[in-house]
Amino acid sequence: MKIIGTGSAVPRRKVTNEMLTEFLDTNDEWISTRTGIKSRRVLSTDEDVTQLAIKASEEALKDAHLDATDLDYIICHNVDNDYKTPALACVIQGAIKAKCPSVDMNGACAGFIFSLDCANGLMKAGRAKKILLVCAEHMTKLTDWTRRESCVLFGDGAGAVILTDEGPDCEISLSTVYSDALYCNASTKETPFSHQEKKYDKLSMKGKEVFKFAVQSSAHDIQQVMDQAKVTADDVKYFVLHQANLRIVDAIKTHMNQTEEKFPHNIERRGNTSSASVPLLLDEMNKNGMLKEGDIVIFSAFGAGFSSGACLMRW
Ligand code: ACO
Repeated sequence: MKIIGTGSAVPRRKVTNEMLTEFLDTNDEWISTRTGIKSRRVLSTDEDVTQLAIKASEEALKDAHLDATDLDYIICHNVDNDYKTPALACVIQGAIKAKCPSVDMNGACAGFIFSLDCANGLMKAGRAKKILLVCAEHMTKLTDWTRRESCVLFGDGAGAVILTDEGPDCEISLSTVYSDALYCNASTKETPFSHQEKKYDKLSMKGKEVFKFAVQSSAHDIQQVMDQAKVTADDVKYFVLHQANLRIVDAIKTHMNQTEEKFPHNIERRGNTSSASVPLLLDEMNKNGMLKEGDIVIFSAFGAGFSSGACLMRW
């Protein structure tokens, strides 16, 4: 499996750390030093995550020089979106005029890797040759804007890739270990048969636990895929990590004993966009001409579940 096109889209509104101090007891110094974030893009009234997902998908198709009718499958990954049903993937399919099966997945922040695994499985089973995978996230609507320890982290955005089966084998490692350190309950309505009306809770997070899990799982997953591919960290051109916190990226870089340039990041401008963060960053790298044919790239992402995964691919 190989990536032959990338695309992305972010909301127009830029929210700086300074702007958060208008309604939150925080400051730029705390946010910058603890997370690396300076600003994030946030969806406001006249935009929605569906538009971002469609734009990112169209860009990726254009970059791959494909028509939407060439697609055999659409996977849209998101934690939450504008619809309970149909799947956002179906809305994207209609908008871009594709004709293939389309479905949503939810693997939280690690979702890009879990979706790559499903795409790889579909290709290996001979069910699909060209797949659009788009991760589109509206995290700022799940965020509790009164909890300063978590709301400063998140931003919105979408990142898309076009995958083809005409590529060398990729290596994937996944894991899930249940934890309640990061969760967000869904709401339920009263019915004639159930009187358990529940308002939906905003995101709850035990930051230190998540931090520890993120560093340990990412280091483990990366090592696993390198072992599977029989390569060392020195052979890898880039480690494209989930943009959760710059200190998490730094800790993994130190553990791997590799140079700064191998760990690109955009969290300072984008915040944490959950599953969209890796394909969003990848699209920036692609547009900046950072990737050359044959480069070994490792994607690694981690988050609620706890779920984590890594994928080693050749560009
Ligand atoms: N502004 C100012 N002060 C704050 C803020 C804020 N926004 N948030 C917390 N503080 C205060 C706390 O109240 C605490 O004050 P106290 O010492 O008087 O009690 C102090 O800062 C230290 O708080 P800690 O929680 O100990 O800070 P820590 O160094 O652990 O950093 C953080 C918190 C940034 C959340 C960190 O734990 C982290 O990044 N964890 C990973 C979480 C993560 O990445 N989540 C993303 C979602 S999931 C995913 O994508 C993996």
